[in-house]
Amino acid sequence: MKRIFSGSQPTGNLHLGNYLGAIKQYIKYQEEGDGFFCVVDLHALTLPQDPEALRKKTMELATLYVAAGLDPNKATLFIQSHVPAHAEGAWLLQCIARMGELNRMVQFKEKGKGEETAGVGLFTYPILQAADILLYDADIVPVGEDQKQHIELTRDLAERFNHRFGEVLKVPVPMIPEQGARIMGLDNPEKKMSKSAESASNYITLLEDPKSIMKKLKRAVTDSENVVRYDREQKPGVSNLLEIHSLLSGESISALEEKYSDAGYGKLKIETAEVIIDHLTPVRERYKKLVETGEIEEILITGAKRAQEVTGGVLERMRSAMGLVSPYRK
Ligand code: TYM
Repeated sequence: MKRIFSGSQPTGNLHLGNYLGAIKQYIKYQEEGDGFFCVVDLHALTLPQDPEALRKKTMELATLYVAAGLDPNKATLFIQSHVPAHAEGAWLLQCIARMGELNRMVQFKEKGKGEETAGVGLFTYPILQAADILLYDADIVPVGEDQKQHIELTRDLAERFNHRFGEVLKVPVPMIPEQGARIMGLDNPEKKMSKSAESASNYITLLEDPKSIMKKLKRAVTDSENVVRYDREQKPGVSNLLEIHSLLSGESISALEEKYSDAGYGKLKIETAEVIIDHLTPVRERYKKLVETGEIEEILITGAKRAQEVTGGVLERMRSAMGLVSPYRK
């Protein structure tokens, strides 16, 4: 059985891009493999966080995983900081990672903006991500397009580790969906939909109410041609709407192009909003129920135990290969 690992940060609001690029894949893979899905709260600390808000967002994200369709009876759901091996594994990998390769990470360049005051944690962020993945002997890592470089680094670190210390780590493969890996912002289709976007009209959150979804879709930026055609280069706004519609409705892009060929953008926007509303209404309802029952806490305790068991073995293999004395020796 294949091992699957992925995670999301508990910052900002989980949005349609996260859902279509990643969470939808998690849900698919939980049927096919042994899935571990994590709320990466340690990663969130790489930028300043209000402690109370971070606590709240961490529980909100874990609850949203289940509300969106992850089943704790099929997959392991947990909070990263509940499994200390992640931080220790990251240290071991830091000792084989290179400044040059981290300097090339696009996300660090974007978030650190080359400033002297950029956090060290932000710089070493991808190494913690590599530890997350490698500690589970993961075969597959379902992610959106923006994480590709981090998974490539993870592969490089695993290969370097194995080259130096013997075959210890499994080299994982990223799984980036053909459609949905880069959902664009509704207010600016040149840039990806982002939790940290300045304006809330950039994204649709998974808990957004129907009125607000309709309003944002009606205002979504398109172009002046008024011809519904999929062309990500020339028509990024319209293509983004077609992609979102297609992924949620299951209709092919070409069928949608035909359906809206005489209708113009207005109808496409309204019907895309309706498809989103249909899809998110049950998620919102399940979320509300889960908050009422409080069952997420038990799910996370069980998940952390299983994650600790799995990572303990891999971490010990790493420690031993690197020459650290086993603490379990008599
Ligand atoms: P994060 O929290 O930014 O995003 C979670 C997942 O959502 C995907 N995603 C998108 N997909 C399509 N369109 C978009 N506009 C869009 N925005 C985000 C991301 O690619 C991601 O899959 N560093 C990671 C979290 C992480 C992780 C890991 C992921 C930590 N450790 C180990 C995989 C494996 C991040 O910040 O994702």
